[in-house]
Amino acid sequence: MTITLTKPDDWHVHLRDGAMLNRVAEYTARQFARALVMPNLSPPVETVEQALSYRNRILDAVPSELNFDPKMTLYLTEKTSPIQIKEAADCEHVLGFKLYPAGATTHSEFGVTRVAAMMNTFECMAKHNVCMQVHGEVTDPHVDVFDREAVFIDQVLETVHRELPEFRMVLEHITTRHGIDFVKQSSTNVAGTITPQHLMYNRNEMFKDGIRPHHYCLPVLKREEHRMALLEAATSGDPSFFLGTDSAPHTRHSKESACGCAGIFSAVAAIEYYAEIFDSIEKIDRLEGFASHFGADFYRLPRNTGQITLARKTRIIPESIQGSHADDHEEEVVPLKAGEDVSWSIEKEA
Ligand code: DOR
Ligand code: ZN
Repeated sequence: MTITLTKPDDWHVHLRDGAMLNRVAEYTARQFARALVMPNLSPPVETVEQALSYRNRILDAVPSELNFDPKMTLYLTEKTSPIQIKEAADCEHVLGFKLYPAGATTHSEFGVTRVAAMMNTFECMAKHNVCMQVHGEVTDPHVDVFDREAVFIDQVLETVHRELPEFRMVLEHITTRHGIDFVKQSSTNVAGTITPQHLMYNRNEMFKDGIRPHHYCLPVLKREEHRMALLEAATSGDPSFFLGTDSAPHTRHSKESACGCAGIFSAVAAIEYYAEIFDSIEKIDRLEGFASHFGADFYRLPRNTGQITLARKTRIIPESIQGSHADDHEEEVVPLKAGEDVSWSIEKEA
């Protein structure tokens, strides 16, 4: 069996920089026409000028015949100014500002400490029709790590949406029923992205026969009831939910550590994982909307004109992606489902 889709887009990806960028970018560029690239480099990508220079480094890292079109986000800080917002609004390559609550995740230390104090900035963004991509977790260490998304929605996002309904926000990498319900109950100015790992696994997967650092990401995997809510939403045909892998490569060394980094590298077979998941509940016909239409519609961009054909054909995911020194195993990047089968494969791109 095969299906042909409008070429998909990945609306949330970490491509990193330098040697890692050169290793991982091509995987994304082969499957997706566009990707929304996260700004959490160190130092972060804060201005349009920095974003355009990063975009050029991304383009240099992928074969030009792929015609990959990276879209950029800027890192929102307490110092983000109205001038920077206006510049972002005027740049076709920049699609918004990423909100990292300070301390929430990798390289979030430059982020926002008190989101409630940012209303003037949000108003300015809304006025210029600039979107915000949200890492939706509180960082209060007293809040249980599995509750941080729900508490963020209750304490922060609901208020922002109520006070500024015209402000367009994407709740990134939704992991809970609470997040799904929030997006469904909000206006069409609020959307959400869903990763392959949160559709595939519940939190037991992190502790299967021992601790599994390659299944650790943030927001962390949740209970089965939440996975079911995500699966239902992603395959429902509701245009408020669309594809964002949150592919976040870290070296094996930094994952397999006493204090391992958060992030799952899924770019190797992203669209194939989603196809396998949708097909597993007989919803493969819903993949095209989720992967290729709804995100472009939300961002008010044209849908892609190219196509991709997927076949129900098993392939084995590689154990790892080598570093520049093939014998240096600490430098490898271990992908999602490393060494396992995936039951759908890309047949051709056009
Ligand atoms: O697991 C994650 N990894 N979550 C994030 O929010 C950031 C990402 C990264 O950059 O590694
Ligand atoms: Zn991310």
